Amino acid sequence: MASGVLTGSLTQQSAMNHLRLTFALVLAASSVATAHGAPQTWIAKQSVIKANQKKRPGFNFDESKVPSYKLPDPLVSATGKAVTTVQDWKDSQRPAILKLFREHVYGVRPDAHYTVVHKEVGRRENAFGVGATARQIRTTVKSNDKSHSFDFVIVIPNSDAPVPVIVHINNRYLIPIDKTVDEFDPFWPVEKMVRRGYATAAFHTSDVDPDEPGRYADGIRALLDDPGTDQGTRWRCLSSWAWAASRVLDFALEQPEIDSSRTAVAGNSRAGKTALWAGAEDERFALTYSNESGCGGASLSRRAYGENVARITAVFPHWFCERFTSYSGREEALPVDQHQLISLLAPRAVYVGSADEDLWADPKGEYTSLVKAGPVFDLFGLKRIKQPEMPPLNTPRQVGSTGYHIRTGRHNLTEQDWGYFLDFADSIFK
Ligand code: GCU
Repeated sequence: MASGVLTGSLTQQSAMNHLRLTFALVLAASSVATAHGAPQTWIAKQSVIKANQKKRPGFNFDESKVPSYKLPDPLVSATGKAVTTVQDWKDSQRPAILKLFREHVYGVRPDAHYTVVHKEVGRRENAFGVGATARQIRTTVKSNDKSHSFDFVIVIPNSDAPVPVIVHINNRYLIPIDKTVDEFDPFWPVEKMVRRGYATAAFHTSDVDPDEPGRYADGIRALLDDPGTDQGTRWRCLSSWAWAASRVLDFALEQPEIDSSRTAVAGNSRAGKTALWAGAEDERFALTYSNESGCGGASLSRRAYGENVARITAVFPHWFCERFTSYSGREEALPVDQHQLISLLAPRAVYVGSADEDLWADPKGEYTSLVKAGPVFDLFGLKRIKQPEMPPLNTPRQVGSTGYHIRTGRHNLTEQDWGYFLDFADSIFK
């Protein structure tokens, strides 16, 4: 402000004007900071920080205690060479980063020979009053005379033109076909999606590979694993669930009503981590939605804010490859961080959601990761979120290929989250 210049030549009248001007400027500044009383950027509430500290003692929820860290640059190769062209990214840098994530975080998928058969086991026509067709499909994977099956439900709206599809990785349950059609579930609000012109399919993670450390023998991994391969880098649940999302996509893409160029994968929490990995491994997914995925998902490992590598690998030893455990308490030694996982999604679209009470998942780490993936979107000439400050609560930010929101409330996937995501999907697909 030029007050120093003004003060030198003040008459009484101009002193009054100056006072008025100063007052007006102060008012204007405060209304920028708190339009309608709402802050312009989200920061964790003290009461929420305290509640998280009480619930999870021994973990960091204090922003001032985040260690200083340096993130690997997604556009610098392992040998220090700058990646400056899309061709370089596609030919060498992307495969190199993908390999690091396979070998250090999510594990390497087995190179097994298998066949897949999809069988319809349930069907409902004219659903939701919009002529949607719901089908329950049993997917049977066979390998070496053994097999493993899991079900999914797919609902396709009636439409003259091919429609986009959202594959939802459901970490809670399989909603059987009748329940899908007859009962509303905000965790997978099918009617909402169908009415907005989207087909959607969902399966339950544990049906693919049980979400329990001791149940390896009962899942898809036991069917496909080669016992001769390196234990340290072998895939585990998250990767097997992501693989299953691709099998559901295979089926969806065989349906003439589905538009193969408009496909999304979505998940919450552990399934949000899985959705990101599914999008990284399978480039047929045009859009990835990760909701409150936290540690090992969208949030930066190096911040070690909320859940950290030591805790997640100790409590969920069946999620990541064994080698990931070796980074417990030494996140800075990881050859990758999670912004590079998001960068693997470029030039496709990505949406990240957080909740303000869910500090365990580190909303700031999730947002920052999305921003730090940005240079790869820039390389493709795409628009993307650049602002380092987070948006305010319940105010989604959509910029080109990237979108983000943080909503009020607890760790969960709600109708509000889906609504924000669908708005973003509309902007990408329509
Ligand atoms: C636990 C876990 C998280 C995970 C969440 C969930 O809270 O620590 O990493 O995202 O479960 O999947 O619900």
